[in-house]
Amino acid sequence: MTEIKLTPRLFAAANLCEGDFVADIGTDHAFLPIYLVQSGKALRAVASDIRPEPLARAREHIDKYNLSDKIETVLTNGLCGIEKYDMTDIVIAGMGGLNIIGILDVASFVKERRLRLVLQPMQNIPELAEYLCAQGYAIIKEAPVIDAGKVYRVMQVRYDGASRREDDVEKMLGAYNIAHKSAHPFEFRALCDKFISVMKKKVDGLTLSGKDAVSERETLARLLQLRKEV
Ligand SMILES: C[S@@+](CC[C@H](N)C(=O)[O-])C[C@H]1O[C@@H](n2cnc3c(N)ncnc32)[C@H](O)[C@@H]1O
Repeated sequence: MTEIKLTPRLFAAANLCEGDFVADIGTDHAFLPIYLVQSGKALRAVASDIRPEPLARAREHIDKYNLSDKIETVLTNGLCGIEKYDMTDIVIAGMGGLNIIGILDVASFVKERRLRLVLQPMQNIPELAEYLCAQGYAIIKEAPVIDAGKVYRVMQVRYDGASRREDDVEKMLGAYNIAHKSAHPFEFRALCDKFISVMKKKVDGLTLSGKDAVSERETLARLLQLRKEV
């Protein structure tokens, strides 16, 4: 069977998995667990989805790659029922940040077992970052990635119980990405551009409605400055 090739976004998520048993929540096509097991980076995996159609698609692909003895599929909402597996890593990719928060918020075993999480939110990134900080999760490492002209944050996260605070810019770009901005200058600039555009719209909207936009202007200025530094 030919080797499966991941898109840059999914490849970045796969590269942040470090253990031998991965649970991929919201798997859809199951490309990520197929890649991990096929390449030997993981020995086995659970691929779950909330909807039967994507899960059927996942099963089809898993069968096609002859991996049905190594990748189990589960129809479930988020992490419900996933606690019975002995996984080392949990991937939640390609979902909105608020959906990811909802999934983590009702799965206390993730904290208790200090499982490694690989998160790739599509929207509401600052909200997810704030939630992770408030809940005692640490972003261990991450790298911005560009895929089909869009930039994504892909982060490896683990609970350690420490309390942290991030400012608005850190919530958008990630403190780790800021500290390592020279490692991925092109992607970091794209990430800055994404939030510069968000903040410009915010400032314009507030200004048009005659409201004070002092803190938004400050945030925008910091984003522009960080962009200039790489
Ligand atoms: C856009 S796809 C992402 C697929 C893959 N993870 C990726 O990153 O390419 C999102 C998938 O998540 C599933 N999903 C959404 N909410 C979910 C939840 N609460 N629990 C499990 N799966 C969910 C959807 O059915 C869909 O198949």
